[in-house]
Amino acid sequence: MRDIKIESTLTVYEDYNELPKDVASLMDQAIDARLKAYAPYSKFLVGAAILLDNGEIITGNNQENASYPSGLCAERTAIYYAGSKYPNAKIVTMALTAGSQKQPTNSPIPPCGACRQAISEYEVKQEAPIEIYFMGTSGKVVKSKSLAILLPLGFDKSFL
Ligand code: THU
Repeated sequence: MRDIKIESTLTVYEDYNELPKDVASLMDQAIDARLKAYAPYSKFLVGAAILLDNGEIITGNNQENASYPSGLCAERTAIYYAGSKYPNAKIVTMALTAGSQKQPTNSPIPPCGACRQAISEYEVKQEAPIEIYFMGTSGKVVKSKSLAILLPLGFDKSFL
């Protein structure tokens, strides 16, 4: 018997203003998307912007439903649209921002487990890392160099 240790390294930016210019402009698009989210039940608005290797930017936001489980997170709304519109493009970067309408959201909000699994599918498919930046509405921004860093021991097609 032996233990294994899994370590993750993330980069933390003190705030939005520290981001490289191109990332800040991708985050601007995620912020725009967040403000258009349909989240009447949770009042928790999430926006995602995806940069593809063909230069296109795809955005998405959470879409809720009176039948709660029928809603979809921002990340999956955006990534499924990217996958359906540009099936051969690679995803380079994702910018994510989330904010509650009930209280300040000043800490970075990471993608949920289901979204990590969904993003992982595309990272495995394209055999290239997807950079992910996530924040609240203000405050620190976290960067992960790949989805795999956020989802150690992930399940993928190699097990099927
Ligand atoms: N949500 C996202 O859009 N992305 C996540 O990664 C976490 C949660 C949405 C789903 C729901 O509309 C609201 O935030 C509260 O969970």
